[in-house]
Amino acid sequence: MSAPILEMRNITKEFPGVKALDDVNFTVNEGEIHGLVGENGAGKSTLMKVLSGVHSYGSYTGDILLRGETQEYRHISESERAGIAIIYQELALIPEMSVYENIFLGHEITNGLTIDWNETIKQTAETLARVGLDVNPSVKIKDLGVGKQQLVEIAKALHRNVKVLILDEPTAALNEADSENLLNLLREQRDQGVTCILISHKLKEVIGVADTITVLRDGLTICTLDAHKGEVAEPSLIKYMVGREINNIYPDREHKCSAEVAFEVKDWHAYDPRLGRELLKDINFNVKKGEIIGLAGLMGAGRTELALSVFGNAAGYRVSGDIFVQGKK
Ligand SMILES: Nc1ncnc2c1ncn2[C@@H]1O[C@H](COP(=O)(O)OP(=O)(O)OP(=O)(O)O)[C@@H](O)[C@H]1O
Ligand SMILES: [Mg+2]
Repeated sequence: MSAPILEMRNITKEFPGVKALDDVNFTVNEGEIHGLVGENGAGKSTLMKVLSGVHSYGSYTGDILLRGETQEYRHISESERAGIAIIYQELALIPEMSVYENIFLGHEITNGLTIDWNETIKQTAETLARVGLDVNPSVKIKDLGVGKQQLVEIAKALHRNVKVLILDEPTAALNEADSENLLNLLREQRDQGVTCILISHKLKEVIGVADTITVLRDGLTICTLDAHKGEVAEPSLIKYMVGREINNIYPDREHKCSAEVAFEVKDWHAYDPRLGRELLKDINFNVKKGEIIGLAGLMGAGRTELALSVFGNAAGYRVSGDIFVQGKK
């Protein structure tokens, strides 16, 4: 087992009326993938914001040590300089700028008084190759899918010689292929010596990729587990996360609603003339009286557009199709 690269000791962080972190201890070994799990509101993001200086030194109590040295970050730029990079689910890239402008933003390569764009583009191509992303460095961020944008963020961190890479729910908005690709990239980076902290609600994913897993619950450190040992499985993690045995994550429920259709949508389409594409294609569903309907899908799948356009708030979309309320068109 290698030495700790990072130690967070007795971290307590309060917001008005909430103790988000209560004497948390969190130790990460050099060159490992460390999964951080816990229910919504357990304190995972807050812990990482304390680490990265988003919640600055002085706003929490406890100590942060990087390779044994005490750190006092007052701003995110200070943790970045120390080699810590945090990547949020809501990406921090600028959509209207190119990939290379984003990667070098604030770290421009200069040639006397001017920016050396040729060198910038050359280095961007090299960095993109490190994350296996095959796109033109000049393409704008807004023209890339979420999965590729995520890779650009990681490329940006790698380019700055990141030592500790933190990913806060990176796969929440990704489809399965993009998620798998991202996790493989994490494994590769780990093998090249980058330490990764992965926050995710997808426990299978964490168990599959992490070397060590820490569970937080209600702002407390519950345990730190060696993920290479057989006892780390989904049910045991869930037990630590919620504090009791859960035998059935999705218990059977009785379908109580009546057969009477209260609301129906038929052949629903929505076209966005600004984007020049169809956002919703041939959607059909009905809701029975007393029924709860869930709309599920990845980011960008059209859930919000469907709800808004059916409600009559089509925000510039051209819609077609029929709506029936209690059978009346
Ligand atoms: N800026 C803030 N102001 C006030 N309360 C906050 C703030 N940030 C977080 N909290 C509270 O601190 C607690 C921990 O929140 P945190 O976002 O760290 O949880 P989390 O484990 O990341 O949850 P999730 O899985 O939903 O992202 C919650 O009770 C939350 O409401
Ligand atoms: Mg969070």
